[in-house]
Amino acid sequence: MDDRFNTIAGWALASGIVALGLASLSGHYFRANKENRPEKMGYAIAGVSNAEGGAAETPIEALLAKADPAKGADVFKKCMACHTIAQGAANGIGPNLYGVLGDAIAQGRGGFAFSDALKAKGGKWDWTSMNAWLTNPRGFAEGTKMTFAGLESAEDRANVMAYLNSQGSNLPLPAVPAAAAAPAAGGAAPAVAAGDPAKGAEVFKKCASCHTINAGGANGIGPNLAKVVGDDVAKGRGGFAFSDALKAKGGKWDEKSLDAWLTNPREYAPGTKMTFAGLDDAQQRADVIAYLKAN
Ligand code: HEC
Ligand code: HEC
Repeated sequence: MDDRFNTIAGWALASGIVALGLASLSGHYFRANKENRPEKMGYAIAGVSNAEGGAAETPIEALLAKADPAKGADVFKKCMACHTIAQGAANGIGPNLYGVLGDAIAQGRGGFAFSDALKAKGGKWDWTSMNAWLTNPRGFAEGTKMTFAGLESAEDRANVMAYLNSQGSNLPLPAVPAAAAAPAAGGAAPAVAAGDPAKGAEVFKKCASCHTINAGGANGIGPNLAKVVGDDVAKGRGGFAFSDALKAKGGKWDEKSLDAWLTNPREYAPGTKMTFAGLDDAQQRADVIAYLKAN
């Protein structure tokens, strides 16, 4: 009887030791730190972020707002096995990428032989599609020839996109979603100083690809904006072909309506032709409105 008890106790003890050993072993192998976590997480867990940096995912727009092309040039080293970026440089395993942001997806590029998968996507590379592509190329275009796992870090993606944008492209940055732009809980909204037309002239460089401002200046992609403050919304302007969406707004432009318009054109007039993401920074809006008033 005693012997039997001792044997059972002995086995129990032994299995306990084995279990302990396994626990420390698995701890050793499966510790998910930066160095030895797999490049892609094999399975998704609800509520657990796949990206580095933890649970609350910062929207890509917010990361782009503070992205650094110099850091992106560093990230781009991962791409250089297959891609050149200098204007007119040769295609390699992948196409030359000069001016790719804003350009048509899988077209041109010195006759590079794109996969049917990528060609079938159509449209142009913008912040959203490029972000999706660089997160997971095969997820974006199943059957793509780009055998690159993707950049797991959203920060790396933001930086490399800022770098791409600086190499022959010049897409305006997307607006930061309100939730991400809002000041931290409890913090007061940042005070906006009176608009400064000189600073506004600087901000207006973002508008100048589509708008002239000098009296009698030609319409471009957008209408000439001379004396627009106080003038009718979407009327006149040398016969510029305004969208029905903006024409339907009626009234005159004042500081308040301009502020709403420049915060988010597509929200202010859904269907507008102004493909400008908006100015996220209230101070920049105040400054550029002061500049519009002065011209
Ligand atoms: C192993 C080689 C390889 C690596 C590494 C690689 N790519 Fe590619 N890339 C390709 C190939 C091949 C294609 C063409 C894909 C197709 O036709 O399906 C491509 C296509 C692209 C395109 C589409 C170009 C167009 O004109 O539509 C972009 C943008 C791009 N790559 C960006 C990147 C970036 C940024 C990186 C680094 C973060 C990277 N690639 C890393 C091989 C690579
Ligand atoms: C990518 C081109 C583009 C950029 C960049 C752009 N706009 Fe526009 N803008 C347009 C177009 C196109 C319209 C006409 C919109 C419509 O008809 O729906 C327009 C319309 C406007 C109008 C209304 C004019 C009127 O007579 O009613 C104002 C004001 C304006 N833009 C200001 C700005 C300012 C300020 C910026 C920079 C902060 C800017 N836009 C950036 C293309 C652009």
